[in-house]
Amino acid sequence: MAELGQLKVGVLGGTGPQGRGLALRWAKAGIAVVLGSRAAERAESAAAELREQAGVAHVSGLDNAGCAADADIVLVAVPWEGHRELLESLRDQLVGKIVIDCVNPLGFDKQGPFALAVEEGSAAQQAERVLPESRVTAAFHHVSAVLLADLSVAEVDIDVLVLGDDREATDTVRALADAIPGARGVYGGRLRNAHQVEALTANLIAINRRYKSHAGLRITDV
Ligand SMILES: NC(=O)c1ccc[n+]([C@@H]2O[C@H](COP(=O)([O-])OP(=O)(O)OC[C@H]3O[C@@H](n4cnc5c(N)ncnc54)[C@H](OP(=O)(O)O)[C@@H]3O)[C@@H](O)[C@H]2O)c1
Repeated sequence: MAELGQLKVGVLGGTGPQGRGLALRWAKAGIAVVLGSRAAERAESAAAELREQAGVAHVSGLDNAGCAADADIVLVAVPWEGHRELLESLRDQLVGKIVIDCVNPLGFDKQGPFALAVEEGSAAQQAERVLPESRVTAAFHHVSAVLLADLSVAEVDIDVLVLGDDREATDTVRALADAIPGARGVYGGRLRNAHQVEALTANLIAINRRYKSHAGLRITDV
């Protein structure tokens, strides 16, 4: 795998807070980014804002299919509700590429957030099922979009668990986590273990609501 500076990262759903926040930090780190949207004009307008905020030229915007085709590595940052349908529509564009799934299948009721049951086991495993010729990984589930968007937060204090069955792919995704100041990518196991990482987000949201925080995780002794 080439150096990160030579790769272009695509962000499906890059007009939302999570995709934009990660794109902002990667753009600031010198990594080329292409935002994807269901509407190309929304992606281009979000890209223009990020170019301005990051003070860089290497952020562009396309519709999701164009984004998937243009990028070397693709982050999936859409709501769980649209996950399967979007990935099914992009199977051809994503062949052979590293796909990073950060989607948390969560529900919310009077008691707060809770993990939804997923037929395939997890969102990441659904992506793997839908994209058999892609290199699917799972990461960035716990990173706060609020902290990513706020450039006055110089260091994002978090370990990013990176899961997957392809060592080179998880190493590349760990490097993308390391590119965010303060953050560190840590291998978190095979893709079959993604469910509890996605589900743990419900606990973190509950913590954030109680303590008015943007809580993250640190793994000790690594
Ligand atoms: N927000 C966080 O702090 C955070 C943290 C960790 C992980 N995540 C995960 O990251 C994902 C994105 O989070 P977000 O807060 O950025 O979500 P969001 O704002 O609800 O959605 C992101 C973008 O996805 C597109 N979209 C919406 N519905 C869609 C559908 N049915 N099919 C395809 N695209 C659709 C929209 O872009 P267009 O209308 O331009 O297409 C939207 O701007 C979620 O799965 C979430 O679990 C979020």
